[in-house]
Amino acid sequence: MVKRLCIGALLGASSLSVAQAQQLEIFSWWAGDEGPALEALIDLYEERYPGTEVVNATVTGGAGVNARAVLTTRMLGGDPPDTFQVHAGQELIGTWVAAGRMEDLTPLFEEEGWNEVFPEGLLELSSTDEGIWSVPVNVHRSNVMWYVPANLEGWGIEVPTSWEAFLEVCPTLQEQGVTPLVLGENWTQQHLWESVALAVLGPDNYDALWSGELAFDSPEAVGVWETFGEIMACTNDDAAGLSWQQATDRLVAGEAAFNIMGDWAAGYMTTTLGLEPETDFGWAASPGTDGVFMLLADAFGLPVGAPNREATLNWLRLVGSREGQDVFNPLKGSISPRLDSDISLYNAYLQSAYEDYSTDRQVGSLVHGAAANQTFMSEFANVLETYLSSGDAQQAGAAAQELATRTGIGG
Ligand code: GAL
Repeated sequence: MVKRLCIGALLGASSLSVAQAQQLEIFSWWAGDEGPALEALIDLYEERYPGTEVVNATVTGGAGVNARAVLTTRMLGGDPPDTFQVHAGQELIGTWVAAGRMEDLTPLFEEEGWNEVFPEGLLELSSTDEGIWSVPVNVHRSNVMWYVPANLEGWGIEVPTSWEAFLEVCPTLQEQGVTPLVLGENWTQQHLWESVALAVLGPDNYDALWSGELAFDSPEAVGVWETFGEIMACTNDDAAGLSWQQATDRLVAGEAAFNIMGDWAAGYMTTTLGLEPETDFGWAASPGTDGVFMLLADAFGLPVGAPNREATLNWLRLVGSREGQDVFNPLKGSISPRLDSDISLYNAYLQSAYEDYSTDRQVGSLVHGAAANQTFMSEFANVLETYLSSGDAQQAGAAAQELATRTGIGG
């Protein structure tokens, strides 16, 4: 039996313990519309391990903005869940690994033969010299532009391959009462920012931001804010009140022409809305980033002191397995990074993402934890808010550099 808890119920989780049955608490932000892929994976777990009661503890909120705050309280309060959703890379390594709160999963990787089936780049992202810290369940792409082909035709526009081309069609769309680019709450605006940064800087300089070789207050990086500001003038003014799903809904309803969002949007459009890739919605690399795959990976780890360690190790085995990944990912809108995954199970969008993942240059996402630590990620929201009210690119660059120095980016 799966128990589904919302945040209000979380504190009472221990009192729910069912007469000596082994439990497994899985903590994530995959609630509601975001839930089907995780639920399918949990069903498979329960089939395999019928003696364990799964507690599916979710805290709603795209990109984990709310879940991470609750997780932090629990981790610091000595009440870790058995396992939690986290992004492979700096989000975990720069935070809970640095604090000595995670178990090294190297023995599990060896036992399962995962060093041979996961691509090298992803293994590196999940590791430090001291160990391997999480099991990736997927790879998502951040830099995707979504649209509805028939609508673009009706409005007489093409998919822009550069931001200059987008800014040219922006007035044509506005004159027809269409939002050129639909945005949602703050993190979705940061999500746009990282795609713009990749386009303006190119992949070498984008990477150099995270290695500390290019300063955030350099003329190049300040230029990102300038372009970002011009693009923001082509977006909806009620963005702050929309979730990423509501922003996607506007695109589907024909109220907006484009959306820049990770490919969980494909999962939402296919699994939740029942739309067909290619006919009902189209996609392209976000303008100016063709040939580059900005990636992130959702992963699970084993916190030190997890109450149900054995049940958690079984969960991690399933998360990293071919069968587990091929059940989860077609519903989620992500690809399995395993080199032996069964591509025929995946839809047209995901097959094209596979192709790009295997051939493109790869860089890591800021907003989704691959490139930056958790403190940088959460405080970058304030840098963006301040920029939106002041429009001062120079000041935004300086504030981002102060934050990078304070949080040890590239250090
Ligand atoms: C990302 C996460 C995705 C999806 C998205 C929207 O950070 O990696 O799996 O959940 O947030 O909430």
